[in-house]
Amino acid sequence: MKYIIGNWKANKNFKQASSWLDLFLKKDFSRSKKNIKIIICPPHPLLPLVQQKTAKYQFIKVGAQDISFFAQGAYTGEVNVETLSNLVDYVIIGHSERRYYFEETDRILFQKFNRAKRENIEPIFCVRDEEDLLPAKAVLVAYEPVEAIGTGSNQPLDQVLKTRQFLNLAKNSKFIYGGSVDEKNAAAYIKNDKIDGLLIGTVSLDADRFYKIIKVFSDG
Ligand code: PGA
Repeated sequence: MKYIIGNWKANKNFKQASSWLDLFLKKDFSRSKKNIKIIICPPHPLLPLVQQKTAKYQFIKVGAQDISFFAQGAYTGEVNVETLSNLVDYVIIGHSERRYYFEETDRILFQKFNRAKRENIEPIFCVRDEEDLLPAKAVLVAYEPVEAIGTGSNQPLDQVLKTRQFLNLAKNSKFIYGGSVDEKNAAAYIKNDKIDGLLIGTVSLDADRFYKIIKVFSDG
């Protein structure tokens, strides 16, 4: 089973998300749906839309891109796990953009991780390299080298596998790669049995291109 995760980041409005979903959900998943889990991670206000439109597709799940490290309470602007608990199954935590632009520290990230776990939302925990601390209970670990994110310069498979070795993953952990994955380079990662999935930013914004990545996998 492979995870194909689409991280829309801060993109799309309601109308654009609806068109994306209408186009994407018309595609043929008959050959791939048993072997994949697609996780769509839109901006928070679009989560109900994605949830409703994808509800009948067992192999499509919804993820948030972030959660607050606070519980419910007087924290203007924050979105916490309690609010998201019936809306998402997954949440991305520790993306390098959060670490960099929002100065999220290990302490904050571990708090977010624990809150998500308590609410049965599975964190997709991102690390930039083997130096980043990894929560012991991290099941989904996404390795995203900063220089590969959004640059069109994906990290070669052998380097990705080398980092995987250094990460000290728990036995039940899944290893996911992200960083300039596209429909041309996806096959090499997806077909490797040490890589359990892909985290896709730019290409996930285009339903046709995102589907092509899934098709690479289902075409065997
Ligand atoms: P990218 O982003 O596919 O645009 O490189 C990946 C990510 O940041 O999750």
